[in-house]
Amino acid sequence: MNIIQVNDTEEMSSIAAEKMIDCLKEKPHAVFGLATGSTPEGTYRTFIEQVHERKLDITKLTTINLDEYVGLAPSHPMSYHAYMKQHFFTPLGLEPSQTNLPRGDAPDPEEEAQRYEALIQQVGGIDFQLLGIGENGHIAFNEPGTPFQSRTQVVRLTANTREVNSRFFDKKEDVPTHALTMGLATIMEARSIVLLANGERKREAITRCIEGEINEEAPASILRNHAHVTVIADKEALRDI
Ligand code: GLP
Repeated sequence: MNIIQVNDTEEMSSIAAEKMIDCLKEKPHAVFGLATGSTPEGTYRTFIEQVHERKLDITKLTTINLDEYVGLAPSHPMSYHAYMKQHFFTPLGLEPSQTNLPRGDAPDPEEEAQRYEALIQQVGGIDFQLLGIGENGHIAFNEPGTPFQSRTQVVRLTANTREVNSRFFDKKEDVPTHALTMGLATIMEARSIVLLANGERKREAITRCIEGEINEEAPASILRNHAHVTVIADKEALRDI
């Protein structure tokens, strides 16, 4: 595990965006696995600026997102579809056919999970996976206790995750109870992974990820079993390392 300590969010974002650009330049038909949340927003902004400035070709790029809330249609403002459209797809200028997220409004979420898992294989696997980390150590929506061999599935969100994510919703009760998420084994098949973390509120999760015991109570600790993982984190998040 390669750990890069940065001074601030701006530096974290520019290093991560540069890694995405390196991947794109090396492989114009790359598959990017993408994350939502407040952490990657700066990375997306910087990547888009750089793509436009350097006139890089994004017409062969495919994106595949980690997760989506069950019950939210793509048009719902708090859906991860809406987030991706706002922060990445529209400003970058991707065609809808280049982008993929699980459908939160699928009539049969279990079937949707299977479709999505198969889709990842169909696109040839993920070249570059960007990850954030939850305060409780989750990656995507793989909560503590999720089996390391899990594939894309429907999961129940913990009370803590619903509480933390309620800041994006009008009322706490509006936060969906379930999500569709890539599994831990699915994520581990990505050819390279970059995990971003900033701020004190991620300190415990990042400490357990980097130097705690590798076990299912700390989902992000699985990343230490991967050969090409870079953690880009600020001093606040890394203070206990
Ligand atoms: C959500 C997402 C995760 C994300 C996490 C952290 O629960 N499912 O993929 O990493 O939140 O979010 P933030 O970056 O806003 O702290």
